[in-house]
Amino acid sequence: MIRANENYLKLKASYLFSDIANRVNTFQKEHPDAQVIRLGIGDVTKPLTPELIKGFHDGVEEMAHEETFKGYGPEQGYAFLREVIAKQDYQALGADVSADEIFVSDGAKCDTGNFQELFAQDVVVAIPDPVYPAYLDTNVMAGRTGAYEDGRYKGVVYLDCVKENRFLPKLPDRDVDLIYLCFPNNPTGSTATKADLKVWVDYAIENKALILFDAAYEAFIRDSDLPRSIYEIEGARKVAVEFRSYSKTAGFTGTRCGFTVVPKACMIYTQAGEAISLHDMWHRRQGTKFNGVSYPVQKATFAAYTEQGQAQIKQRIDYYLNNAAVICQAMDDLGFEYVGGKNSPYVWVDGDGRDSWDFFDLLLNKAQVVCTPGAGFGRCGQQYIRISAFNSLENVELAMSRLKEALQ
Ligand code: MLT
Repeated sequence: MIRANENYLKLKASYLFSDIANRVNTFQKEHPDAQVIRLGIGDVTKPLTPELIKGFHDGVEEMAHEETFKGYGPEQGYAFLREVIAKQDYQALGADVSADEIFVSDGAKCDTGNFQELFAQDVVVAIPDPVYPAYLDTNVMAGRTGAYEDGRYKGVVYLDCVKENRFLPKLPDRDVDLIYLCFPNNPTGSTATKADLKVWVDYAIENKALILFDAAYEAFIRDSDLPRSIYEIEGARKVAVEFRSYSKTAGFTGTRCGFTVVPKACMIYTQAGEAISLHDMWHRRQGTKFNGVSYPVQKATFAAYTEQGQAQIKQRIDYYLNNAAVICQAMDDLGFEYVGGKNSPYVWVDGDGRDSWDFFDLLLNKAQVVCTPGAGFGRCGQQYIRISAFNSLENVELAMSRLKEALQ
């Protein structure tokens, strides 16, 4: 008899963003004339920039000729891409990361989801609340949690991120082995200073723990004091893995590319206490289960690092940041408290006592605007909604004027 992995039965019926898409589709069927504006899932709307498209075309052209055709690529990604990442994303910040510590992949969702495979079943996992659901769900699937009760899985150490702590997780009051952090944060848009991150790095060093640091929104940082990488913090190379994505940085949600940095100094331990290279383990895992990102996509990604490519993607990000400012202004006008929207494309809005799914339904029904209910990210999101800045300026302005009409 083929038996199920019953850990899947502990999960909520569908993934948060599938759930929202279904609700919106039902609404749209019932109201075919409604002009729904989607500020829910963080999905970019602007096309790839000319420099990136040129890189893409060049890659496709090379695939068309016997002399330049490429079959399977190098396991960790092409050296031309890994070298430019190491140089421009890390060494330029003074962060000690080399090209052979970078693993190019098809995005941060897969990597943050897959990485937990390397850890023992009984490691204690600390997860912020609210949180990007993939971190938690993949640990549930792996059987690292108990049942779901009262909005939380048993066995997980939740790190509450609330107004009182500036939406920054505090050190747990019990020992943990694996810590998920994401800055600029999804969903709250909060940011962490170097001092905030140092607390976690020091904790991980002292406790032989590991930090999985999701920096998917690093390109939205405009405040020069904020760290863009965990490796700007002393000691992080020993205890942190960093995930990056081109989805929001370069408009690659449909193109798919990202990378993970696993420093060679990062160790993981057997039950007997023997240290093992985490880099070697991830390399082994990827070699077995992943065949790389397509050559044209890696060429397009490389183009994001040229002078023109950098200028063009910065312009795109500035555009979305301006949308975020429009959302923040509307929240100020409406008198809602919020966080985010400055070094982040997300604005986390306190619904002033409203239940987040009720607030979601109200905005959909009265303003035809889609947001993301905070409860979908965890119990601490119960009274919040997340508004995403990924849409056209025209749509964001229209959505905000509809919101004002619906709520004033
Ligand atoms: C989000 O809206 O949180 C993200 O777009 C989802 C993702 O990156 O997978």
